[in-house]
Amino acid sequence: MHSSSSVSKRLVLVPILVVAATQLLLVNSVSSLNLTNAYLHHKCLVNEGQYKPGSQYEKAFNELIKSFSDGSYNFHDGWGFTAMGKEPDMIAITYQCRVDSRGPKCGTCVINASSELLRKRCPRYRGAVIWYDQCIVEFSRFNTIGQINYDDNFCMPSVKNLSDDSISFENRSILLDNLTSLAITKIDKNIKGVKTPVRYAAGEKRFGKKNLYGMVQCSGGLTVKGCLECYTYYLIHYQDCWRNKQGVRVLSPSCNFRYELYPFINPRSPYYTKF
Ligand SMILES: *[C@@H]1O[C@H](CO)[C@@H](O)[C@H](O)[C@H]1NC(C)=O
Ligand SMILES: *[C@@H]1O[C@H](CO)[C@@H](O)[C@H](O)[C@H]1NC(C)=O
Ligand SMILES: *[C@@H]1O[C@H](CO)[C@@H](O)[C@H](O)[C@H]1NC(C)=O
Ligand SMILES: *[C@@H]1O[C@H](CO)[C@@H](O)[C@H](O)[C@H]1NC(C)=O
Ligand SMILES: *[C@@H]1O[C@H](CO)[C@@H](O)[C@H](O)[C@H]1NC(C)=O
Repeated sequence: MHSSSSVSKRLVLVPILVVAATQLLLVNSVSSLNLTNAYLHHKCLVNEGQYKPGSQYEKAFNELIKSFSDGSYNFHDGWGFTAMGKEPDMIAITYQCRVDSRGPKCGTCVINASSELLRKRCPRYRGAVIWYDQCIVEFSRFNTIGQINYDDNFCMPSVKNLSDDSISFENRSILLDNLTSLAITKIDKNIKGVKTPVRYAAGEKRFGKKNLYGMVQCSGGLTVKGCLECYTYYLIHYQDCWRNKQGVRVLSPSCNFRYELYPFINPRSPYYTKF
């Protein structure tokens, strides 16, 4: 008995060690790439009001959120909308995941984000938005699909100012423009049947001795025209925020972009381009 159990232990140990080693490697490369799912920001939409504890509204809200985790929901497309009732008293939940976090990863992010909004950040608010690295979740009394949101947004610049040898404003704009052109033309391979632009792009470009890394993404509900409008609006709206910064994230529920002097998206992920 003894020997057989130690044999099986040894047999089991070997693959565990192998797994642990590859996990270690993964963890290392992931952390060096800054592939985290950090909480970034949230906003409670005060204008949409609050609901009462114990109300039907609260029950329906909780049910809707529960439906994300009971397995019936499919996060394959990486964005979506679920709702109950009619405007202006709808309970609508819209989410958008980063394209390299579609599927179960998207689900995890959306479920975590929803419960964070509901329980901690904006309890009982009918409208709220929360931003993470990998997903954005919006609660609203209205169906916001396909609309450009000009109200709820923020700019997160890097702490570091530009150094003398940094990449110029013009060159940083070029990378973002190049990414946007791809985002609105590359066809989404994940969505079968309909040919639709992926509305996402990530990549890098060399300027002199330095590499610049960037990403742009629009909500899956926006048209190509809407995507371009949203991107252009926010690029200009926040130019004083990012003009003198080594890195920035500009976020809204309908589109967002980011650039850094370090890689933050796996270059082997889909729709990644080295210009
Ligand atoms: C990860 O991000 C931090 C800023 O949040 C940056 O200082 C650091 O250099 C990054 N890591 C790598 C390997 O680029
Ligand atoms: C869940 O939310 C918390 C708090 O905002 C955050 O720190 C954590 O990274 C999130 N976890 C996942 C898996 O998204
Ligand atoms: C960056 O520059 C601004 C003004 O140009 C200055 O106020 C700020 O202190 C600088 N920040 C750092 C970290 O040097
Ligand atoms: C990148 O953008 C610049 C300026 O808008 C343009 O001249 C260049 O052709 C673009 N390159 C690619 C690969 O899209
Ligand atoms: C943009 O980068 C290129 C190198 O790729 C460099 O030759 C050019 O001077 C830069 N433009 C500006 C305005 O800094």
